[in-house]
Amino acid sequence: MKREIIQTLDGSTTIQIKEWDECYHSKHGAIQEAQHVFIKNGLSLFQNKQISILEIGFGTGLNAFITFLEGRKMNQSIDYVGVEAYPISAEELVSMNYVEELNATDDKGVFEHMHQCKWEEKETFGNDFSLTKRKQLFEEINDLDRFDLIYFDAFGYRVQPDLWSTAIFKKMFDALKDNGVLVTYAARGVVKRSMIEVGFTVEKLAGPPGKREMFRARKLV
Ligand SMILES: C[S@@+](CC[C@H](N)C(=O)[O-])C[C@H]1O[C@@H](n2cnc3c(N)ncnc32)[C@H](O)[C@@H]1O
Repeated sequence: MKREIIQTLDGSTTIQIKEWDECYHSKHGAIQEAQHVFIKNGLSLFQNKQISILEIGFGTGLNAFITFLEGRKMNQSIDYVGVEAYPISAEELVSMNYVEELNATDDKGVFEHMHQCKWEEKETFGNDFSLTKRKQLFEEINDLDRFDLIYFDAFGYRVQPDLWSTAIFKKMFDALKDNGVLVTYAARGVVKRSMIEVGFTVEKLAGPPGKREMFRARKLV
């Protein structure tokens, strides 16, 4: 499918899939969305802790890179697993302006290495961050009681409804440790019903700029 680089409203770039009219991030602001959905409403619940994170859709690496930067500030030790079946190309990567937009030029090498490092191998970044990229379909995830936090960042229900099904959310529920948390930008009723059906307790939170609401789901015991 034809993909194009576009600039979102906060100045950060994203990739748009023309045929689907779907983007890797919110058109209202890729960085703003990542900061709000995944950092403020996810990562920041675990300050000063050692945690493991599963990302559903490594994509451009924006969430992984922001998590590296924010985790360092919040004194967290992070074991990050990014699952992605269709990695972006080297040409697409060089068009992403996240290092500049996040004022993180000192960590440019980290962002680049996150993309260059091998799949299926754990790589360490700084003292307290490790990344394992898994080239895998979401449908093949079979982790059990492994993660504290899931960033659920699949393409939207409109274009990939099967990725928001009970079958996938059951995998997410099983992959979380007890009291683990899943955050997602989505806020559709059908998504909430699937989450509840597999056992999650779901809260509706204010969404990032341009989106009214989002969900946070917990595996309460
Ligand atoms: C919304 S984008 C993720 C954006 C990413 N979190 C970022 O920060 O750039 C969704 C990602 O899911 C991937 N994807 C789509 N279907 C998939 C599947 N069935 N299994 C694994 N990856 C899939 C796409 O290639 C895309 O990178």
